[in-house]
Amino acid sequence: MTAAKRESYLERLFGLGGRVAVVTGGSGALGGAIARGLAQAGARVAVLARRRGPIGALVETIASEGGEALGIEADVTERAQLESACERVIERWGRVDVLVNAAGGNIPQATVSETRSFFDLSAEDFERALRLNLLGTVLPSQVFARAMSEGEAQGCSIVNISSLTARRPASRVVAYAAAKAGVENFTRWLAVELTRHYGERIRVNAIAPGFFLAEQNRSLLLDAEGGLTERGRKIMQATPAGRFGAPDELVSTVLWLAGPGASFVNGTVATVDGGMDAFSGV
Ligand SMILES: NC(=O)c1ccc[n+]([C@@H]2O[C@H](COP(=O)([O-])OP(=O)(O)OC[C@H]3O[C@@H](n4cnc5c(N)ncnc54)[C@H](OP(=O)(O)O)[C@@H]3O)[C@@H](O)[C@H]2O)c1
Repeated sequence: MTAAKRESYLERLFGLGGRVAVVTGGSGALGGAIARGLAQAGARVAVLARRRGPIGALVETIASEGGEALGIEADVTERAQLESACERVIERWGRVDVLVNAAGGNIPQATVSETRSFFDLSAEDFERALRLNLLGTVLPSQVFARAMSEGEAQGCSIVNISSLTARRPASRVVAYAAAKAGVENFTRWLAVELTRHYGERIRVNAIAPGFFLAEQNRSLLLDAEGGLTERGRKIMQATPAGRFGAPDELVSTVLWLAGPGASFVNGTVATVDGGMDAFSGV
């Protein structure tokens, strides 16, 4: 087979050339790798998060790698900010084809610890974790899926970033795990709802990552010297791969779910965890 034939075959399965993708949490560890990956695959990428500095740095990195990116400051829990963000994307590129909901993470105050039992968790802190992870997936889906539904684009795709803790709750992170379970349920619900109204135009799937080192979980996994905490060690033992994932290792799954080859994949959750979910511990 010639290289050109092979390339056009891969293009039919995974091609994102000319597509417009929005990545919430796009300046974070996982969102950043996903945003760069989408840009490398030919998509124009809007990087959405709250802090200007990390957004700007990522936009520059994508440009230096030959991609096209737009940085937008917005909070995923604030509908008005998301609506302005969506207007900016439409103004710049005229459409939205892909939404990756990667903003989220653990809220330290909403975890059980030696000094904070389950009985002492405050409703406010529990709600903060639900608000960021669950509502922060629902609101961008409302805003950007509406733009997908109103435009000319076909083959649109929403990819929610859940967590292995949605199905297999990890100790301590009670509110985070409950919120991610909500994200998976919402993924299935929305997949059906949008297909009922818009046919095959918009698909909705999720990825459940295992453990990857990032800002929001670093203090749970590594001590001040960079060694593994007890929790970090337990994770190593429970992960057949024996290591944390590297953010780049999520990219191929996002490209698959966002691309034309996944046209019959809807309402599913893909696990990327180094074998952790399959391991009985024995
Ligand atoms: N790392 C892991 O092991 C792991 C495992 C399973 C699932 N996940 C999930 O993967 C996603 C990405 O996490 P990560 O590990 O890459 O975390 P991270 O490095 O801390 O990145 C989080 C990103 O979300 C943004 N963000 C946080 N709150 C936001 C808000 N209210 N509005 C808009 N943006 C917000 C952050 O930027 P600003 O702070 O500037 O807004 C940052 O860009 C999260 O949903 C997380 O739950 C991570």
